[in-house]
Amino acid sequence: MPKQIATTDKHLNLPKILEKDFSYQTGKVLSSMNSEPLAREFFAKNIHRNLGDPALFSGTKEIESYVITILGKLVNLPPTGTGVIISGGSEANITALWSIRNRRFPNFLELNYAPEIIAPRSVHISIDKACDLLGLKLIKINLNSEYKIDIHEAKKTISDKTLAFVGVAGTTALGSIDPLKEINDICLKYNLDFHVDAAFGGLIIPFLGDRQKYNLSFDLKALSTMTIDIHKMGRVAPGGGGLLWRDTSFPSAIEFKLPYLPGIPKQKTLTGTRSGASAISFAFLWQKFHFEGYQKSVLQCIENTLFLEKELRKRGFLIPVKPTLNILGIKSPFDSPLTVNYIHDVLWKQGWTTSIVDDFLRFVIMPQTKHRHIVSLIALFDSLMKEQ
Ligand SMILES: Cc1ncc(COP(=O)(O)O)c(C=O)c1O
Repeated sequence: MPKQIATTDKHLNLPKILEKDFSYQTGKVLSSMNSEPLAREFFAKNIHRNLGDPALFSGTKEIESYVITILGKLVNLPPTGTGVIISGGSEANITALWSIRNRRFPNFLELNYAPEIIAPRSVHISIDKACDLLGLKLIKINLNSEYKIDIHEAKKTISDKTLAFVGVAGTTALGSIDPLKEINDICLKYNLDFHVDAAFGGLIIPFLGDRQKYNLSFDLKALSTMTIDIHKMGRVAPGGGGLLWRDTSFPSAIEFKLPYLPGIPKQKTLTGTRSGASAISFAFLWQKFHFEGYQKSVLQCIENTLFLEKELRKRGFLIPVKPTLNILGIKSPFDSPLTVNYIHDVLWKQGWTTSIVDDFLRFVIMPQTKHRHIVSLIALFDSLMKEQ
């Protein structure tokens, strides 16, 4: 027997340590775009399934295609379209820009300049990561008064090095939706690719009564790729992001042949092994709840967000942007210690997790946060205001 390697004698009491974690079930987690996952048992039953090995898991592969069909229908993906379920929004954004870059520049390494990506300042950090990894130059554009990309500034930034625009449908900070149609028109005019990051909004906007006005749709002809996460409003456990491609020329630009796996001619994802459980759980949930069930949950979250907005507005807080989705940002008008930083700290001490983004105190109202939780939160605000 080879001699053992001493690691540590310490024995961790794992359940005890995990008690330190916050639980979504309290309804008090307002800092996260993830939610209490549904279909836990179903997910657990399917944890071994590997989408990276479709010869072994052809059933799982078929279910992934079903999920892509559902996501695609929500945003009018044309029949030429395709997609994958990968680890999350970050991987989807990186993969999207990777495919856009390689499709335009099959010999990228021979270029003597870094192609440019134009995106709003509100873009998720995964776009920064993508550009860093891919040798692209990210140009960030200021936001207008609605916290959307300033389209005039964006236009002025276009040059012959511009490769693509990124628009966000549901920003991380405030849930704003960029003017997708206007960005699309610019991209068509200058022959640029267009990626939409709808990691959050992709499973919200299609359920809104006024969805048409946001143009979250592949009817926008310049639109090449779109990210839609299923582990945010899709309600599956962490590890589920969706990437949609307008046509197969995008994934073909990043395909690699795996000599060691049978039956898989070429792989079109960043990772080899990838979980099948998220895709399977989403398919399960969709068949259970259908469009109407998801819609109900989305509309309830938005109603709760608007209720919180109304109550805080009544109490004198500033709401610089009316929420479009289930994210609210507030500022404190008070010339007193009741600053957003102070409130944020008090809330955390009482088990309410919020975040501060761009000087806003930000609340993300996910499905496990019910009306009654908001009522208690408002009562807490009232007691804080009384103390002042
Ligand atoms: C708009 C947007 N895009 C991408 C991401 C990254 O998603 P993930 O955490 O699944 O990698 C997030 C995460 O909050 C997001 O808000």
